[in-house]
Amino acid sequence: MAVCEVRAIPPFSLSGEAGTVQRDAERFLDGVELARARAMAPAAGARFLAGRVAQRVFAAELMSVPVTDLCTAYSCPRCGAGPELGHGRPGYTYRGVRLPLALSLSKAAGWTLLAAVVDASPETRLGADVEDPSGTRFDGFDALALTPAESIELRLAGPDQLPAARARLWARKEAWLKMTSDGLRTAPSTLDVRERDGLRDLGPAETGLPAFLAAAVALSTPVQGNGSGGSSSS
Ligand SMILES: CC(C)(COP(=O)(O)OP(=O)(O)OC[C@H]1O[C@@H](n2cnc3c(N)ncnc32)[C@H](O)[C@@H]1OP(=O)(O)O)[C@@H](O)C(=O)NCCC(=O)NCCS
Repeated sequence: MAVCEVRAIPPFSLSGEAGTVQRDAERFLDGVELARARAMAPAAGARFLAGRVAQRVFAAELMSVPVTDLCTAYSCPRCGAGPELGHGRPGYTYRGVRLPLALSLSKAAGWTLLAAVVDASPETRLGADVEDPSGTRFDGFDALALTPAESIELRLAGPDQLPAARARLWARKEAWLKMTSDGLRTAPSTLDVRERDGLRDLGPAETGLPAFLAAAVALSTPVQGNGSGGSSSS
């Protein structure tokens, strides 16, 4: 059974650490990532760079290779793949060879959640997501995000538990949709995430995230032997 490694990176102070992030980004990241950050508002760009630096350090540590020898190898179902692509499903090459590492990244409330499977087959797909319950407090969330069956189930939650219950489902949906690579091109209200093989919640003891944030991971690996799809996680 594949083992999923997770790491949570705390928020950084924009005034105190932005210079360090920029220096690390210029040392470690690729031009396509620096260019994407330059196109963002300064605070968003700094958060993006911090996430990419943390992800690259995480990948290098897991694979025991120098962080400066990695190159981005992202892929997007719409735009394709290649070193010039700065968005989509994360991946890296090391000296021109794709690392056997499935990766996923998510940011919420200043925190970054990283997840990885080491020694992953090329078909392994991983998705992780972290959500801030405060982001679910708007009229129309249930119609936009939930299936009818999920909405009925949430009616059992008291008003105090509702934001956390919504965030838990939303984190599961985004984790699943990153695992499939579809993202929100798939309407979340069509995806029931109450029970799915390979999909599970991540608790604060496992991730190091604060308990108020909801997190989930989805992992799909091919079933050994018959070549057909399936999933497993631990
Ligand atoms: C995947 C998605 C649901 C994440 O949204 P989010 O809640 O805003 O952001 P999160 O912080 O949780 O996750 C962002 C990370 O998701 C990952 N991601 C983005 N698209 C992904 C995809 N298609 N498959 C897997 N992972 C993806 C990236 O690692 C990204 O990190 P980055 O900011 O360093 O690039 C959203 O980006 C989406 O729906 N993307 C698909 C549509 C799209 O990308 N269109 C534009 C390009 S054609």
